[in-house]
Amino acid sequence: MARFTGKSVIVTGAASGIGRASAMLFAAEGASVIAADKAAGVGDTVAAIKAAGGKAVSMEMDAGNSGDVKELIALALQTNGGLDILYANAGISGGTPNLFEQTEEQWKQILQVNLIGPMLAIQFGAPEIIKRGKGAIVCTASVAGLRYGAGSPAYSASKAGVISLVSLAANNLAGTNVRVNGICPGLIETGMTQPIFDRAREKGTDDKIGQLNPLRRAGQPEEIAKVALFLASDDASYVNGQVLPVDGGLSSSLPIVPPRR
Ligand SMILES: NC(=O)c1ccc[n+]([C@@H]2O[C@H](COP(=O)([O-])OP(=O)(O)OC[C@H]3O[C@@H](n4cnc5c(N)ncnc54)[C@H](O)[C@@H]3O)[C@@H](O)[C@H]2O)c1
Repeated sequence: MARFTGKSVIVTGAASGIGRASAMLFAAEGASVIAADKAAGVGDTVAAIKAAGGKAVSMEMDAGNSGDVKELIALALQTNGGLDILYANAGISGGTPNLFEQTEEQWKQILQVNLIGPMLAIQFGAPEIIKRGKGAIVCTASVAGLRYGAGSPAYSASKAGVISLVSLAANNLAGTNVRVNGICPGLIETGMTQPIFDRAREKGTDDKIGQLNPLRRAGQPEEIAKVALFLASDDASYVNGQVLPVDGGLSSSLPIVPPRR
């Protein structure tokens, strides 16, 4: 039997990239998916899931807005009779300004979506997952949250916050049988990073992308989605409060010049 047959799953940021790939994989493994995003394209994700024979409904919402998050959880209850798995994945990057260029308004916006968003999802979603007796929450952090150098200052700080949120939520949910884990993707080709890939292809330097990690390539959304499904599944039944870098090995070394071969 597929790993998520009969499971009610919410994925935020499901219109594009990692969220879309995850929503598709959850549905392919039997889940009833609520695909949420602020972009109307989330309807296309649901259409693709249905075309492949899966179950999904979409909701256009703002993952950083508490009223919208409450409505999202209510939609899962109304559609699927409960909630088993929550993947808090929606995020924004904020470009590449430095600390002195990034405004207070930009900090607030990025923290609201990237950090307060997953916090709200857990606050409103976890009580419903607890009612099922068992479940899992997964959050998308970033290698930018482990060390600065991949994204704007506010982005890095927001993702460091998500790493902290994962461990504190796992502990605040002690004794409930609800696990909370996170993923730190490296450079993945998605809507968020498309300009990097497009620019490199235009200049003919796309073979340089991802050269800082030992696998020497960028990742694809499905390579993160598969890890999200693992962490949400019973295969990870004893994994809790952890954040897993999925970055081709980028975060495994200091930024030294790689040895010549
Ligand atoms: N792509 C990478 O290299 C990379 C690396 C590390 C972490 N991440 C993280 O992965 C997650 C998914 O991003 P992605 O790379 O798939 O990018 P993406 O831009 O392709 O997808 C992000 C989705 O989130 C949605 N979104 C943004 N703000 C929202 C809001 N307020 N409410 C609801 N939806 C909202 C967007 O509309 C978009 O569909 C993000 O949290 C991102 O920070 C990405």
